[in-house]
Amino acid sequence: MKTKKNFINTEDLSRDQLKELLDHAIRLKERPYNEALKNKSLYMVFFNPSLRTRSSFETAMSQCGGSAVNLSVGQDTWQLEHRPGAVMDGSASEHVKDAARVLSRYGDAIAVRCFPYMKNWEEDARDTVVRGFAEHATVPVINMESSMYHPCQALADMMTVNELYREPRGRRFVLTWCYHPKPLPMAVPNSAALMASTFGMDVTVVCPEGFELCDQVTDGIKANCEREGTELRVVHDLEEGVVDGDVIYAKSWGSLKYYGDWDGEKVVREGLKDWKITGELMEKTNDGKFMHCLPVRRNVVVDDEVIDGENSVVYRQAENRLHAQKALLMNILGEG
Ligand code: CP
Repeated sequence: MKTKKNFINTEDLSRDQLKELLDHAIRLKERPYNEALKNKSLYMVFFNPSLRTRSSFETAMSQCGGSAVNLSVGQDTWQLEHRPGAVMDGSASEHVKDAARVLSRYGDAIAVRCFPYMKNWEEDARDTVVRGFAEHATVPVINMESSMYHPCQALADMMTVNELYREPRGRRFVLTWCYHPKPLPMAVPNSAALMASTFGMDVTVVCPEGFELCDQVTDGIKANCEREGTELRVVHDLEEGVVDGDVIYAKSWGSLKYYGDWDGEKVVREGLKDWKITGELMEKTNDGKFMHCLPVRRNVVVDDEVIDGENSVVYRQAENRLHAQKALLMNILGEG
């Protein structure tokens, strides 16, 4: 029997396996159409909105001869319960266990997007929804962004870095926190930093005090850096942190210190509005490329002159979602 290949976190694959996917993605960018996924169906379950993920997965399936079905939870489906053993006397009419088993009988893979509930860190960190689907589905499950990880975004990000620098090893990847009016999930920064460290980049995480990444992910980045002979720096000063950066990856995320106490965090956050990527800041970098997963709040997170400037690669990143996910789908669903 073929092994079920889930894709929940980039760390589940070796660097060589990830490299193989990225190399395939670059070849697919040159030759986008094939029949490798003919008669294959992907069921996409969205608990949260999406522009890029939904569109790129759907296009990836159709350009390879397959099809995708989009299900917005609570609109196209019943509300779904994810807690094991829950007494379902609330608003949810169906359990993830049953949804996963049923969709497995129709499709060849299930992809799930479920952001954190942002109330209790320990619960969110368990990624119960996507892991619940993975546990109960009999077909592969792909993470389209969970509480902890956005591995498909990280594939596209690293593909973009590989296109920019033939050898990313030794380049400086600066992940920088930016102001945003709301606390956001940590999945993108977690996966971006893990992936950069996997590929031998020096990683700098720039954030205000109290906004550090969680221990689990920091330990993962450190382990990758140790293996690759590189370094992880955590810097609490934006101007200092971007110096010599080859990649400036901007993203906002919520503070673990205030997790669930967002009114408390707001007081701190409102004092951090100058954490924004400006043209002046980019001049301190090593001709750094500006990256962001999108969507982005212009002139809050990043000034127009940077995101519209010649060193911005945000649309290339977005495009590469299509190619990278195609390579992933062919790996997971293709014959052989
Ligand atoms: N970057 C990303 O995942 O975009 P969407 O939220 O629009 O899918």
